Amino acid sequence: MDNNFDLIIIGSGPGGYVCAIKSAQLGLKTACVESNKTLGGTCLNVGCIPSKSLLHASEMYKKAKGEFSSLGIETNNIKLNLSKMMENKNKSVATLTKGIEFLFKKNKITHLKGKGSILDKNTVTVTEASGNKIDYKTKNIVIATGSLPSSISGVSIDEKTVISSTKALSFDSVPKELVVIGGGYIGLELSSVWKRLGSNVTVIEYLDHILPGMDKDISTEFLKILKKQGINFKLDSKVTNVSILKNKAIVDFTNNKTTKKERVECDKVLMAVGRKPYAGEELIKLGIELDKEKKVKVNQKYQTSIKNIYAIGDVINKGPMLAHKAEDEGIAVAEIISGRAGHVNYDVIPAVIYTSPEVAMVGKTEDQLKEEKIKYKVGKFPFLANSRAKVNNETEGFVKIIADEKTDKVLGVSIISNLAGTMIAELALAMEFGASSEDIARTCHAHPTHSEAVKEAAMTVDKKPIHF
Ligand code: NAI
Repeated sequence: MDNNFDLIIIGSGPGGYVCAIKSAQLGLKTACVESNKTLGGTCLNVGCIPSKSLLHASEMYKKAKGEFSSLGIETNNIKLNLSKMMENKNKSVATLTKGIEFLFKKNKITHLKGKGSILDKNTVTVTEASGNKIDYKTKNIVIATGSLPSSISGVSIDEKTVISSTKALSFDSVPKELVVIGGGYIGLELSSVWKRLGSNVTVIEYLDHILPGMDKDISTEFLKILKKQGINFKLDSKVTNVSILKNKAIVDFTNNKTTKKERVECDKVLMAVGRKPYAGEELIKLGIELDKEKKVKVNQKYQTSIKNIYAIGDVINKGPMLAHKAEDEGIAVAEIISGRAGHVNYDVIPAVIYTSPEVAMVGKTEDQLKEEKIKYKVGKFPFLANSRAKVNNETEGFVKIIADEKTDKVLGVSIISNLAGTMIAELALAMEFGASSEDIARTCHAHPTHSEAVKEAAMTVDKKPIHF
């Protein structure tokens, strides 16, 4: 094989594989190194995709058991077949990872199989599964190595009793008692899955609210919804120890305010306290600068401290750890390397939690605007007053639009709705175009749709909603 490339990308997650495709489309001779058997990184193999498959299937199960009869659909003897549910998930993952293989072939991208490490600024060494090492020459390198689950001090993840999200996506039986440490994205999505499938779930969260970083209105309302679904919460509580006793875990935690100590026993403990960047050890030796959190430092052009070595995605010191952020950076860096302009607007990156209902947000929260001393106005519209949500029995949640007090420019939007993850795209687009709330209010929205709540929330910014 000719082993001289214009660009070698290390890692084939949403950042790496999208970068490879864009780079090849722009005419660069491109290779992508991946140590996992399949392409797609954490997102496709053990993250976004398998979790969404289980979220969907468990939601269907819950609906069939609890809601169908009220719609006039009589069912009896609904049973869970967990291994079939897992098989369906694995099939979806396999189809999508093979899809990337196909896209690599279509775009003539060389897939280097093995663990990539940077030998020097123009050489990537690939260590194959056999232990064989091959050096490849390249003009540019993109580090897209992603992140790994973190744990809390003194507690190690054994993937038997104390588990990461990877294991929680492949249990072979439903744990009776599940404790989830962390009330963020992973904690709440996987709590929902296992609660629906029959576990008794307790979430222990360090802060006094769930979903840090989201609008407070959202976290307060969403907490109420999840409690109603039967998930238990211990907020403002710090886990101090997890010990294992005969396949059971004992979790000790202390309330931050009252200092009251509590203990729960369970079958599994899911550690969902965030993820840490996964930067190869050779980076420091090469002189690539990392920040305090061991994230790779990059400039506006995604260059590390070595100019022809770039980095994107979860491993860098910019933006949230989200697959779609990494994808956009993958496109931007490929454009930059091929001599074009590449750019990501970090002010407009939507965030979605795929629970039921879903939670979505884009732009600023009220707290952020207060901190930045920006004056704003708010329009909030409940799904209780939206006709489509009402006929579908999906009346939980609301749309909240925050606009600049003077200019009316939309600054942030939060949504709780079964369709929030899809609906937020309209608002991201509006914000990219610098829309005002009036622009949204004057845009015709199809009836009857959940999206009419967006129009009504925009009308509420001006205190004149029609249906509320
Ligand atoms: P996260 O940062 O969303 O939440 C971690 C939570 O753990 C925080 O609320 C934090 O206060 C809490 N915590 C930390 N230490 C604690 C302790 N000792 N005791 C109790 N609570 C503690 O992290 P998460 O959920 O692990 O997700 C990791 C990353 O994966 C996130 O950055 C997220 O962006 C990404 N992700 C995105 C998804 C999506 O887009 N839907 C789904 C899953 C993950």
